[in-house]
Amino acid sequence: MRQRGILFSYPKHGANVFEQMKKKLNVFIQTEKRLVFQTEKKKLNVCIQAEKRSVFMVRRSIQAIRVHQYGGPEQLKLEQIPCPEPQVDEVLVRVHATGVLPAEWKVRQGLFQRFRPASFPYIPGSAFAGIVEEVGPGVTTFQKGQEVFGRSNNGAYAEYTTVSEETLALKPASLSYAEAATISGGATVAWTALFEDGALQAGQRVLIHGAAGGVGLFAVQFARWKGARVIGTASTANVEFVRSLGAETVIDYTSTPFEQAVQDVDLVLDTIGGETLQRSMQVVKRGGMLVSLLEQPSQEKARELDIRAMKNTAALPFPSTTLLQTIAQLIEKGLVKVTIAQTFALHEANLAHELSQSGHGRGRIVLLIS
Ligand SMILES: NC(=O)c1ccc[n+]([C@@H]2O[C@H](COP(=O)([O-])OP(=O)(O)OC[C@H]3O[C@@H](n4cnc5c(N)ncnc54)[C@H](OP(=O)(O)O)[C@@H]3O)[C@@H](O)[C@H]2O)c1
Repeated sequence: MRQRGILFSYPKHGANVFEQMKKKLNVFIQTEKRLVFQTEKKKLNVCIQAEKRSVFMVRRSIQAIRVHQYGGPEQLKLEQIPCPEPQVDEVLVRVHATGVLPAEWKVRQGLFQRFRPASFPYIPGSAFAGIVEEVGPGVTTFQKGQEVFGRSNNGAYAEYTTVSEETLALKPASLSYAEAATISGGATVAWTALFEDGALQAGQRVLIHGAAGGVGLFAVQFARWKGARVIGTASTANVEFVRSLGAETVIDYTSTPFEQAVQDVDLVLDTIGGETLQRSMQVVKRGGMLVSLLEQPSQEKARELDIRAMKNTAALPFPSTTLLQTIAQLIEKGLVKVTIAQTFALHEANLAHELSQSGHGRGRIVLLIS
């Protein structure tokens, strides 16, 4: 029997000595085993604690909606994911509200996969409002605790999102988070299409289709604020609403073909596409302009009619902090108002998409994230 380098053997040491040594050794071995066990247990505990600490410190988990494959609203899954970290020039925002844009159900459904394939899994959403939680390296404009709104390219159907500081602005205190979340993708698109693409001037006549929608309701008010004369189209239920936004004439598209009620406009803002876009080209006066949010209009037809026609553009980064601030100031001064169609909780994103997909309604749908 060899233990710790001492050799005991019978009969060399005699039976008694041998038995005594065996007992002592046994006690020694048991004690040592217990010590080793206790030390290992202690070491293991230390490791577990360290692991727990590092997991908690580096990657706390948050709730987010994710899409793993193209399909219906049931593809919007509420999941626990690691909190994103702000990179250089990025800000981590605790999201309080997110605007639900029609483009989001179209992407989820796979309608844009030919020219903008999704990278799965992805978090939908871009227009948001919330509070700065942390700033990444190089950020000097924003600091923790500020109320902000803007556009994220990293998904906004989530408790936290990371945002480039170039597409972020301070939220005026008078605007709720839900109201501020309607600006990006609604007001910003209306502004750029009317004033940059369409070069709308005071005194001109503009026809705005889908005038009660998330883009249209801002377009009507911006055009009016600019001093243009506004004609809007909407369904019966939204006629009075569009008039209240400042439209001089509102055409109920369910009962009157718009070309029977309006001709020779300087600008058409098309938020519907298809047949509405085709028919709209005839109501633009010679030398006038049509801007579509949906598709590239026929250039051949535009030449025939001696008009200009284009798909809207969006300069990058879009929307800029300056544009977000300009619009927020108009809202703060009471010159432009915000309309929220309906609000849903984050886990009800599927219901919000079903409503958005109907293509009808008044104002922007918003997810409220507590
Ligand atoms: N390319 C871009 O940069 C860009 C940016 C933003 C949006 N978009 C697109 O522009 C479209 C509108 O966006 P949104 O956010 O305003 O959508 P929205 O909030 O869903 O509003 C759509 C509006 O269209 C109206 N409408 C439906 N059919 C109509 C018709 N035949 N004639 C006139 N109005 C009609 C509905 O009003 P009623 O209830 O009265 O029917 C509704 O208010 C969407 O397709 C969206 O994807 C493109």
